[in-house]
Amino acid sequence: MSAPDPSLLDPSALEAARDEALAAFAALPSLDELPAARTAHLGDRSPIALARRALGTLPTADRADAGKRVNVVLQAVQAAFDARRVELEADRDARVLVEEAVDVTVLPGRLPVGARHPLTTLQERIADVFVAMGWEVAEGPEVEHEWFNFDALNFGGDHPAREMQDTLFVAPEGSGLVLRTHTSPVQVRSMLTRELPIYVVCPGRTFRADALDATHSPVFSQVEGLCVAEGITMAHLRGTLDHFAAAMFGEGMRTRLRPSYFPFTEPSAELDLQCFECRGVSAEPGGEPCRVCSSEGWIEWGGCGMVNPAVLRACGVDPERYSGFAFGMGIERTLMFRHGVTDIRDFYEGDQRFTLPFGMEA
Ligand code: PHE
Repeated sequence: MSAPDPSLLDPSALEAARDEALAAFAALPSLDELPAARTAHLGDRSPIALARRALGTLPTADRADAGKRVNVVLQAVQAAFDARRVELEADRDARVLVEEAVDVTVLPGRLPVGARHPLTTLQERIADVFVAMGWEVAEGPEVEHEWFNFDALNFGGDHPAREMQDTLFVAPEGSGLVLRTHTSPVQVRSMLTRELPIYVVCPGRTFRADALDATHSPVFSQVEGLCVAEGITMAHLRGTLDHFAAAMFGEGMRTRLRPSYFPFTEPSAELDLQCFECRGVSAEPGGEPCRVCSSEGWIEWGGCGMVNPAVLRACGVDPERYSGFAFGMGIERTLMFRHGVTDIRDFYEGDQRFTLPFGMEA
């Protein structure tokens, strides 16, 4: 550092330093330049600081006067600096108020967030119900071999379900491939690949040669359930389905098993739910007619039954030792019941006004 320079203590030098500082502060355009100006005019290397350091070089008698002069100038410069800072801060605040003003009345310009499809969210919800009981989720292909879709499930070669009016065949003719008409082939795949006991639930897409109308669609979704273990009876089937119905439609939902026929279950049944609309009253003598259940008092939800021993055998499971139950429900149907959707086409049109409220629910 250079040696202290006593000439800095001259009244004229001090005044010059002060005037220069004041002019510099006055010319500051914004708060950003403030620190540099402070260093230049009030910092350790500023003319005033250097003058103060030069005090030691003066004869003792002159020091008091010179010291006072330095202090007066220092205070003036410091005061000018503080005043300018207050001014610049006020400028900034005024500018921010204008520039960063938020108009709370402006409509949001955000891109709308999409919604998950209700078919997806319900499938997940159903899977959750079963996973909570220790079941696993299984999957299978949508393009399926006839053997899995029909033969292994005990459909005879001349079963009417194999005909063109029900089944969508995959070209070329004789390929042996179909678009699966139900999720039941996943039962077969599960038994062939998994260790016993088996508890699987399989939601998925299914296909039938149906025309699209308010209640039918050539592409729809089902959820299949399969349990194979020792000592399984129809009581297990009934209890599982009652739990499933309660999870979907609320506690106290009454169910009924009505005898039916499927080649892959024996005995087989349709699972009916008590009508949500009339609670069964329309079927009683004197009850008001009900449009929802056609005054039956019950609505069909899905098929079920005890796995046919012929199916167990086809899948390499010993029917002498093991028994099982299976069920299959339509997912669209379940959603229609749960939410009062009356037209199945609403699920496939991709209109967000329909899907958004379901997406919010997830
Ligand atoms: N797969 C049958 C159908 O699509 C439903 C079902 C599944 C029936 C499992 C019984 C057991 O109609």
